[in-house]
Amino acid sequence: MGLESNVATISLLLILVSTANATRVFDVRNYGAKPNSDITKAVTRAWNDACAYQGSSKVLVPAATYRVGTVNFLGPCKGPIEFNVLGSIQSPGDPKYFKGDCWISFGKINHLTVSGKGEFDGQGQTAWGRSGCSKNSYCVRLPISLRFDFVTNSIVRDITSVNSKQFHINVFGSQNLTFDHVTIIAPHNSPNTDGIHIGRSTNIKVIDSKISTGDDCISLGDGSRDILIKGVICGPGHGISVGSLGKYQNEQPVSGIRVIGCTLTNTQTGVRIKTWPQSYPGNATNMRFENIIMNNVDNPIFINQGYCPWNQCKSQLPSNVKISKVVFKNIRGTSRTKEAVEIICSKTLPCKNVELRDIDLKYNGKDGPATSRCVNVNNPLIGGHQNPPACTITTLKKQV
Ligand SMILES: *[C@@H]1O[C@H](CO)[C@@H](O)[C@H](O)[C@H]1NC(C)=O
Ligand SMILES: *[C@@H]1O[C@H](CO)[C@@H](O)[C@H](O)[C@H]1NC(C)=O
Repeated sequence: MGLESNVATISLLLILVSTANATRVFDVRNYGAKPNSDITKAVTRAWNDACAYQGSSKVLVPAATYRVGTVNFLGPCKGPIEFNVLGSIQSPGDPKYFKGDCWISFGKINHLTVSGKGEFDGQGQTAWGRSGCSKNSYCVRLPISLRFDFVTNSIVRDITSVNSKQFHINVFGSQNLTFDHVTIIAPHNSPNTDGIHIGRSTNIKVIDSKISTGDDCISLGDGSRDILIKGVICGPGHGISVGSLGKYQNEQPVSGIRVIGCTLTNTQTGVRIKTWPQSYPGNATNMRFENIIMNNVDNPIFINQGYCPWNQCKSQLPSNVKISKVVFKNIRGTSRTKEAVEIICSKTLPCKNVELRDIDLKYNGKDGPATSRCVNVNNPLIGGHQNPPACTITTLKKQV
């Protein structure tokens, strides 16, 4: 064969290979979507066609502003599916337009990619001020911006969530789901706007993401297993939390949590584990917080087994959630509260195998230096540099 026919054969092969792997694009404009209009129907139809396509598909939301009402993007789909957002998707302002507790949900999908430099705008500023929201409870009637329910082997990257009415992102029943370079933005005083809440899910990663919000940047509920939070920049917000645990019956154990290489700035609490007093039984074990920078943070290291907002429980009764194998290592920076390290465990189930190593937290205030408090911590392991000296006064109340 001559050189030319060789080149021709190779080109033909390349074309065949690339068409075999080609992703079919389902552009919402082909379903009637117009900028600055409500595209709920168009985006739903584009999703349905993409999901039914036998091969790799992509739903494209181009760079323009669109309005979308409640939508449930449901699988299973016939092939890998991408939801690519280049524009701004805006939620209805008034909560009364929502059916259920969510704005946009992705459910029962394997190999989902949510991508693009676009944003999901929850228009929360129209809802946060409503009565009953900040004071008593969880704003249960306000919708979560993005839900991922039973989503597997999937990735969410580059997108932005702004001004959710309640949580920005909620992950439930999912496995092998990665959030990479995600941006979350809401004001520091927006109630219950947790950045990413994870529950009953395994192998979830949040990587190189930036979260500024009014509640926990990331919160891990019951059944969170094998979770990696790495390179996350948090603040303002309420830090990175495990819990709160023990409020409900039959909660699943929490285990295998790694929070590594994160920076928290001006947050109310840093890394914390919180459980309700007078609680149902539960377990939280194997949790590691390592290489973390705290800038002007309230209670940078905090285990609180008497978590009880709005005084809705009998806080004198101890928690029945068992906390064990917790490592705080190489955590440094500045504390806005004098008590920089607070480890308050349950009287009936003291914390076991708590390790503090290389801690350097300077108190910002004038009535320094920083202090620590440990209550009901069984033989804590203290190593390396310690500022404040940790668990020097340990109150251990043994039950008979
Ligand atoms: C996890 O999901 C990613 C993204 O779809 C995929 O590339 C990877 O193979 C999955 N891992 C496992 C163990 O299935
Ligand atoms: C907690 O873990 C222990 C063993 O590690 C187990 O015996 C117990 O049943 C667990 N409790 C709950 C509520 O999961």
